[in-house]
Amino acid sequence: MDNSELEKARQKVLTLRRKIEEHNYNYHVLDRPLIDDHKFDQLMRELQELEDSYPELQDPDSPTRRVGAEPLSAFEALDHKVPMLGLDNAFNKEELADFDARVRRLTGLDMVEYLCELKIDGLAVSLQYEEGVFKRGATRGDGYTGEDITQNLRTVRQIPLQLNDPLTLEARGEVYINRSAFEQLNQKREEQGLILFANPRNAAAGSLRQLDPRLAAARPLRIFIYGLGEHYLNITGQKELLAYLEKLRLPVNSNYTVCCGPDEVWQYCLEWQEKRHNLPYETDGIVVKVNRLDLQKSLANTARSPRWAIAYKYPPEEKTTRVLNIGVNVGRTGVITPVAFLEPVSLGGTTVQRASLHNEDLIAEKDIMIGDTVVIHKAGEIIPEVVRAEKDKRSGKEKKFQMPRNCPSCDSQTIRLSGEAALRCINPSCPAQLVEKLVHFASRRAMDIEGLGPAIAGMLYFKELVSDVGDLYFLGVEQLTGLDRMAEKSASNLISAIEHSKKNPLRRLIFGLGISFVGEKAARLLAKKFGSLDRLQNAGKEELTEIAEIGPKIAEAVVSFFDTAETRPLLDKLRRTGVNLNEPEVKTLQKGEIDLSGKVFVFSGSMDKYTRDQAAALVEERGAQVSSSVSKNTDYLVAGAEPGSKLTKARELGVEIIDQNRFNDLIS
Ligand code: IVH
Repeated sequence: MDNSELEKARQKVLTLRRKIEEHNYNYHVLDRPLIDDHKFDQLMRELQELEDSYPELQDPDSPTRRVGAEPLSAFEALDHKVPMLGLDNAFNKEELADFDARVRRLTGLDMVEYLCELKIDGLAVSLQYEEGVFKRGATRGDGYTGEDITQNLRTVRQIPLQLNDPLTLEARGEVYINRSAFEQLNQKREEQGLILFANPRNAAAGSLRQLDPRLAAARPLRIFIYGLGEHYLNITGQKELLAYLEKLRLPVNSNYTVCCGPDEVWQYCLEWQEKRHNLPYETDGIVVKVNRLDLQKSLANTARSPRWAIAYKYPPEEKTTRVLNIGVNVGRTGVITPVAFLEPVSLGGTTVQRASLHNEDLIAEKDIMIGDTVVIHKAGEIIPEVVRAEKDKRSGKEKKFQMPRNCPSCDSQTIRLSGEAALRCINPSCPAQLVEKLVHFASRRAMDIEGLGPAIAGMLYFKELVSDVGDLYFLGVEQLTGLDRMAEKSASNLISAIEHSKKNPLRRLIFGLGISFVGEKAARLLAKKFGSLDRLQNAGKEELTEIAEIGPKIAEAVVSFFDTAETRPLLDKLRRTGVNLNEPEVKTLQKGEIDLSGKVFVFSGSMDKYTRDQAAALVEERGAQVSSSVSKNTDYLVAGAEPGSKLTKARELGVEIIDQNRFNDLIS
């Protein structure tokens, strides 16, 4: 090739890369795009074509390579040269004053200047730049060693692949997801029948720990840089540092300010207490840092946290809103639950529009009326709850709520059984109950049919494709394609998930049938004792109560389920479809064998010795269960080759991860 031609191409490539990074910065960091998406795509294409035609010009740090690295089987460990410490917390004005008093005592100063920053609620990461080029990035881990998530961080468009100064430094910051993007992400997951993320922080954490960078790239990750790890810069204060980082084109949050003394710090905390809710991202406090870096150095660290900084944490969020209406929801057992429809408010990262009111008695106890101003909070991490009604705000126009005399779905009379707080619809062919029954049957702990969530179940029922759980096994791809939001791919995925569920052990089927009072544990005991559905079906009350943990209430419910007119045709249907109606026998443990009863396994990636079904059968023989997705109830994630996102999730939840060798040990 002509040398000058190559040289010309090289110049062009360099110019294009610079331009692209420039536009990237304008768009993703400054939020001020100078060209439209189409023009940007053209530049990218031009660069890609040149890199394709001149392989010698390819460069792993080119903007064309942000996404596209191969999926990993596990993350490597990466040591932090300077430990990534956490922060001590202050929960009120006094604790902030104590912090200031200690800083003054240790420095001997009368007045200390602090730099106050927003505390972004995300995940701490470190980014290593060598001579201005982004080389490696890691999670915080235990503070000393993190996980090398370089591939995923490269997909974050706000992270420059190149600084505009060829410096070697380690930048530290917080990866997060905007509230609105989080809601969109969860909405998509709900449609796909996937487990929802509890909050934006969990969504960011889950995304950063994807082993396949293409999956991470599809997540709306963002970052704010707030400091440095190892560096050789000559800077005097945190404020100058932030300004300098900004000049390097790192994304810095601009809401910082210098405060003189603890009173100004407290004012700043108060100022953001409400204002923070208008930000597009979640913050959970204010980080207060001694501004002078020489003082930071002399104050140094305790084992866990620096003495020169503290995090003021805002109290858990409560919001006031209005009850627009109260409606009811019909569950699979016919229980009618009142639900408050609320004027939408954002609370803990999501927009809340409804809250369960549990039952009639609770509404009476809390005296909640339609039109009331109410205080809500989040119980646990996700479920919104009404704390109290603000009765002094009543106008007199509020209306008392009456539980319906008739079921809102099928109109049959509702009944409150003696001794129960719940009101029920007892019509066995009530549409709302039937849809909920489908959802329960398909749920993860029952037959585990991925993709069959409430929306799809409702559609199948109302389009008259399915009237009970047995009908699911007669569905074909062609019936599903063309339904709302059902592409051919999702249709065939759903059909194969249904097909796959046929092999489940009996206990899952028993649980999935939704017999009153028969939870997972009772289902397991019943399956173990009777071994087959036929035998269970013919069991009398006495035989049932022979099982130590099955009392008369459960026994009665089981007998009456099998006596109900609808049950027999349903079971016949299931028999015809080839659904497994037997419980695999639990082997008696031989000496040296490990008892796996009650353990929950999830398999991810392929194994050398067994197919997924063989491996599942092996653990089930030993009394364990297999689930298709990881949750906090999972005991073991068995990681085969290319394990994918389940591994990430297991890490996130602290589930024990075992490799194939360990698995072989467990079952040998
Ligand atoms: S400075 C040694 N500044 O809060 C001090 N941290 O427990 C390092 N965070 O792990 C932290 N926003 O993930 C600092 N503006 C900010 C921050 C911030 C969020 C996180 C960070 C850290 C945790 C403190």
